[in-house]
Amino acid sequence: MSSFENFRENWLRPALFFGNNPISLTGGAITTASGITMISYWLAELAGQLSDNPYLGIIFFLILPLLFLTGLALIPIGILLRRRKLRNAGRIPPEFPRIDLNDRVFRHGLDIVLVATIVNFLVVATASYHGAEYMDSPQFCGRSCHVMKPEFTAYQISPHSHVACVDCHIGSGAQAYVDAKINGTKQLIEVTFHPVAHFAPRIIPNYPEPIPSPVTSLRPARYTCEGCHTPRRFDGDKLLVKSNFADDEQNTETQTVLILHLGGVDSLLRYTGIHGVHLGHIEYIATDSSRTTIPWVERQNPDGSFTQYSSLPAGSSIPKGDRRVMDCIDCHNRAAHTFVTAEQAVDQAMSTGAISPNLPWIHKEGLALLNGTYTSQEQAGSQIPAALQAFYRSQNPAVLEQNSALVDQAGKELVTLYDQNVFPFMNVTWGTHPNHIGHMDYPGCFRCHDGSHAAKDGTSITQDCSACHNLLAVEEAKPKVLSDLGIQ
Ligand code: HEC
Ligand code: HEC
Ligand code: HEC
Ligand code: HEC
Ligand code: HEC
Repeated sequence: MSSFENFRENWLRPALFFGNNPISLTGGAITTASGITMISYWLAELAGQLSDNPYLGIIFFLILPLLFLTGLALIPIGILLRRRKLRNAGRIPPEFPRIDLNDRVFRHGLDIVLVATIVNFLVVATASYHGAEYMDSPQFCGRSCHVMKPEFTAYQISPHSHVACVDCHIGSGAQAYVDAKINGTKQLIEVTFHPVAHFAPRIIPNYPEPIPSPVTSLRPARYTCEGCHTPRRFDGDKLLVKSNFADDEQNTETQTVLILHLGGVDSLLRYTGIHGVHLGHIEYIATDSSRTTIPWVERQNPDGSFTQYSSLPAGSSIPKGDRRVMDCIDCHNRAAHTFVTAEQAVDQAMSTGAISPNLPWIHKEGLALLNGTYTSQEQAGSQIPAALQAFYRSQNPAVLEQNSALVDQAGKELVTLYDQNVFPFMNVTWGTHPNHIGHMDYPGCFRCHDGSHAAKDGTSITQDCSACHNLLAVEEAKPKVLSDLGIQ
């Protein structure tokens, strides 16, 4: 018997015979229906006709492909069940219905099966490709799950709003991809069971609120950040201007101007300044989970020798804790998710005019309102503007008469600032996620550069202000340097 005949007699004929059962036929119908729906969706997507609603993505890239595969799986299941039933009843025919390739009807049937198989294959391949791509999209990571709302909100207004989450959180490579999928599945389970998890906290998996930082599974920056930012390209100084407003009636504005010595790798291949120095090899041990307390630091010097700095009493042994090689993320920990302090938020909004500095007392009052306690963003959204109106009505009705539009706008802007930084349902509030850049609001650089990290030879990690920056003006009203530079 030729192999085709063998296939026809022993496989095709029985399959067609047994396949004629409700389960297999239902499977075929489900597969066909979901296949056609998916194909239409892809065509619509190609034509650019779709919204970016994340739930559409869940339906089309995850649920429909699953239905499609379920339908496909039902076909052989139905066949096996029918065969078992008939065998048990002793009713398997000695001879399966004839397959005759000269029979036109049968030949066309065969064509259909063949075409269907090819189409199925293409659909499954496209679906898995789309599904994988979709699961890597910021839409999926950030919007399909409300747990990510704080990070996604901050991400959308960050300089990285066009960088996919996976570029920083996963990076390239198969191993990283698989790890991320395993971790993602765990998170999906936690999110699914969240509504009931507090009934049995030890048994049912749950996610922490807030999601803890640092992300210990984040890969070293050379696999993520450095894919886009080439450290060797860093060089030079950066001018930084910060505006502050006082808590007086006039909201008196002052400015701080500094030149940050960012440095990098200079033309003689020397590592200089803030970026250059730490690009060499520095390891540290943090003794708390937020990497804020750093009692021990080791630096590999350019000549290959090591210097250890410790803030512990002389003679102490190396502390126990999370030992880590310093990289970008130890300073830029909020690269894509900067949550500011309430003070920074109000100052920033006032310096751009989004909150008008002409409103008397607005700095003090706005700050007090942002720092108030609200159970939800909705509550803050209705109470903050109302409280601001009430403040002016009782303290300074003339402002409401002359500038009611500015008061409205300020109220709205305060709500926006609140919504960008405080998420009561995830226990994320002002200061929950400290920023390690700088040293004014959080320890930041001073985790190491506090002057108390000393080496054996008596030197310590520098706290010399001018090592990091030149302060051209500190909280001055209309600093002269800005008009000299033509900035003001
Ligand atoms: C430019 C790189 C970058 C991008 C893009 C990015 N992240 Fe992050 N993400 C980070 C870094 C860095 C941290 C903090 C890690 C640390 O401190 O160890 C972080 C932390 C987090 C955390 C932990 C909680 C927290 O606030 O620290 C979550 C959750 C998170 N990111 C989700 C997302 C989501 C969702 C997206 C896409 C919408 C995204 N990230 C995009 C770099 C990035
Ligand atoms: C996929 C590419 C990509 C990756 C990965 C990436 N970045 Fe960026 N980053 C950018 C781009 C593009 C900009 C410039 C955005 C602009 O100018 O508006 C930027 C800007 C920045 C800035 C300047 C922000 C500012 O205020 O101007 C910092 C700091 C930064 N990135 C740090 C990081 C760190 C740290 C990581 C790793 C956690 C990282 N980036 C990963 C593409 C990337
Ligand atoms: C020792 C801390 C530190 C480390 C480590 C560090 N940076 Fe920075 N970086 C800074 C500071 C401070 C600034 C200026 C901050 C500001 O603009 O407010 C900066 C600025 C930047 C900028 C913006 C430059 C500009 O001209 O505006 C980029 C991009 C950047 N860093 C990327 C990186 C990358 C990528 C790495 C890892 C290879 C890295 N940094 C490592 C402290 C650090
Ligand atoms: C984990 C510890 C650690 C952190 C955090 C850290 N540094 Fe450093 N830094 C060091 C060590 C170690 C040295 C080398 C010793 C020295 O030069 O004093 C150094 C050196 C420097 C130097 C060179 C000093 C000189 O005299 O040439 C600059 C500039 C600097 N750091 C800036 C920063 C800035 C800005 C930040 C915060 C954004 C920061 N560092 C955060 C450990 C750290
Ligand atoms: C290890 C490096 C380092 C040292 C040492 C250091 N600073 Fe800074 N400082 C920074 C960085 C980085 C920033 C910018 C933070 C940012 O980007 O917002 C900063 C910002 C500032 C600002 C402006 C902050 C604001 O938000 O208004 C002032 C003021 C300041 N430093 C004062 C000092 C003084 C005074 C000293 C000396 C006692 C000092 N710094 C030592 C790194 C350093």
